[in-house]
Amino acid sequence: MNTQSNPGRAQAVAFANFALIKYWGKRDAQLNLPDVGSISITLDTLWTRTRVELDPTLEHDLFELDGQAGAPGSARVVALLERMREIGGSRVRAHVHSRNNFPTGAGLASSASGFAALVTAADRAYGLGLTPTRRSELARIGSGSAARSIFGGYVEMHRGNRSDGSDSIAEPLAAADDWPLEVVIAVSDRSRKSVGSTEGMQRTSQTSPFYAAWVSNQPADLALAREAIAARDFDALADVSEASALAMHGLAMSARPGLLYFNATTMECLHTVRQLRADGVPVFFTVDAGPQVKAICAPGSADAVAAALREVRGVTEILRAGLGGGAACLDKQARSSA
Ligand code: DP6
Repeated sequence: MNTQSNPGRAQAVAFANFALIKYWGKRDAQLNLPDVGSISITLDTLWTRTRVELDPTLEHDLFELDGQAGAPGSARVVALLERMREIGGSRVRAHVHSRNNFPTGAGLASSASGFAALVTAADRAYGLGLTPTRRSELARIGSGSAARSIFGGYVEMHRGNRSDGSDSIAEPLAAADDWPLEVVIAVSDRSRKSVGSTEGMQRTSQTSPFYAAWVSNQPADLALAREAIAARDFDALADVSEASALAMHGLAMSARPGLLYFNATTMECLHTVRQLRADGVPVFFTVDAGPQVKAICAPGSADAVAAALREVRGVTEILRAGLGGGAACLDKQARSSA
């Protein structure tokens, strides 16, 4: 229901998140209901800024990403706006302008920050006054991982059991400041991945002989990660996070035809991270549906990790991040400088 005034225009920012315990596979592709829960960290430097402007003269929603109209993902954007209009009882279409400060579709979680920012800005523009939990549920319809970017710090996404998806939502586990881990990202290919997550998951769940084992193992990994985060136990979090990332990629490789998101540089970076840890540097890796390696560092170790990864052949760029906050609307002052 309309509980807030409808300003007709709003801008929001949301940050990318990286899963430590991976989401891979759905029980409902329409609503993006996951087959497994997941646990992630929200970053503070990789963001999407999205402006939503209602326009009663429009016959269709208009979506622009990084200055390009009709960008990939437009259909998902429109579907999400439709749902939000249903909630608010509005028929007014919107101009949506979105900007990422990092490469889109290259395994850097652009759909997560993108849909979290969209839902947050549209919530304000349509005057819906939704709770973060409700925004998480809606962001999930855009992209499963986006449900997590509504919240900052350490976040758990619940698999849920209901067919309407009302319990497939994320919730915060701990704040960024509670345990300020840092992230070093070794970029080796900025191009858009050849098989997106949505298609990759579908192929995996339909063809991998190991899919059922992946699903049944997930609750145990989620419990280990939850405990490690609660106890700030870096070694325990490192072990279970690397196991989850490798299991996800092993599973994806076992689809038919197999999905190969790693390149040669990815492999070099994984060995480098393992060697650093063996040498006493507190760091572990995770990799998503692209070749970039994300090195998660205990406070104080990111400089050494960045220096080592910069030396790996094929690494073209190093990005750095700390942990950040949840999706939020920007006030007028921030908007004019955006
Ligand atoms: C490998 O959320 O992009 O990053 O729900 O189909 O939009 P859709 O997929 P998406 O998948 C993310 C997969 C992952 C792992 C993760 O973030 O948990």
